[in-house]
Amino acid sequence: MTRLDDLPIRDDLRGKEPYGEPMDPVLVPLNVNENPFPVPAAVVRDMLTELESVLPTLNRYPDREFLELREHLADYLGHGLVRDQLWAANGSNEVLQQLFLAFAGPGRRVLGFPPSYSMHPELARGSGADWVEAPRGQDYELTEQLVVDAITEHKPDVVVICTPNNPTGTATSNDVILAAHDAFDGMVIVDEAYVEFAEPGTPSALDLLPGRPRVVVSRTMSKAFAFAGARLGYFAADATVVDAVRLVRLPYHLSAVTQVVAKVALRHAPNMLDEVAALRTERDRIASRASELGYRVAPSEANFVLIHGFAAPRQAFEFFLARDILVRDIGIPTALRVSAGTPEQTDAFLDALEDYTKSAAPVPPSEREDTK
Ligand SMILES: Cc1ncc(COP(=O)(O)O)c(C=O)c1O
Repeated sequence: MTRLDDLPIRDDLRGKEPYGEPMDPVLVPLNVNENPFPVPAAVVRDMLTELESVLPTLNRYPDREFLELREHLADYLGHGLVRDQLWAANGSNEVLQQLFLAFAGPGRRVLGFPPSYSMHPELARGSGADWVEAPRGQDYELTEQLVVDAITEHKPDVVVICTPNNPTGTATSNDVILAAHDAFDGMVIVDEAYVEFAEPGTPSALDLLPGRPRVVVSRTMSKAFAFAGARLGYFAADATVVDAVRLVRLPYHLSAVTQVVAKVALRHAPNMLDEVAALRTERDRIASRASELGYRVAPSEANFVLIHGFAAPRQAFEFFLARDILVRDIGIPTALRVSAGTPEQTDAFLDALEDYTKSAAPVPPSEREDTK
């Protein structure tokens, strides 16, 4: 049988594993930070009506510039943004890929702050760039000093800051992002995939865009919007950044079907975002019960929590799986990441956690990596 290594594949791809989070159907999937609530029926009805007029036109290519959709995205974000400052692609993964293709690439360096989203290094390297890392501080926080020191040391072309950060839930303030921006002359990509789950009123990096063409804010409809299956990510930035990305995107990358369902979803934004407050409640419920049971939970502004204190995270993962519950073993010592589910799903996880704790006590703080 032919193996990957038998092919004349790129040297830097040899020995690599593709993104491979399990997709087995389970009763309680809490492993990929999806929104567990279905698309509301009224929105589905509107989508079907609009699709009826779009489907016969699929013989033609879609609007390559998806102008209407970008108008809707600008309206949704507010902040005085206009259509020309918005761009979208098939998920924010593709948005990030396009940004790296335009601003990273061979001979360039991208700096990130792990633990963070596992696809950042993959996408940066996929563009041909080098990936470099600097550690986070206490409780996974980023400080101005930390980011400026890392930029001084690594001299990157692009810095990626994820806020709230996946997998820790940690928020990073605009002051820190601004400090990063002012410390070098490269691009600052702020990945705000989970920002709608932060406390209402929390400032977004969108506030930093006026007068700063080197800042890009990446967002997605996959999380708070409960629209992961539609694949719609987007960014807001100076209109020139959009022009840069046009140089690397594939023509007609956003299908007419994607464009129309995303437009309808945005028209129904308040309805689509209806369950965000409920998910914050579920997130906090997981955090407080896990703490009562003796675990430590990093403060989270997202729809998931990182729970520390599992002596054997893999064994705990298997224990939950046997109960039809999928959580995420992120490879952080003693930790598992758990997404907020419906109240019933959260109950199922917390019951299982309680039972697991009876058989395997949480690791005391003195022996945990995160407290050293
Ligand atoms: C921080 C972060 N950014 C981007 C993404 C990509 O999401 P999508 O491609 O569905 O927009 C994810 C997905 O989990 C994520 O956690």
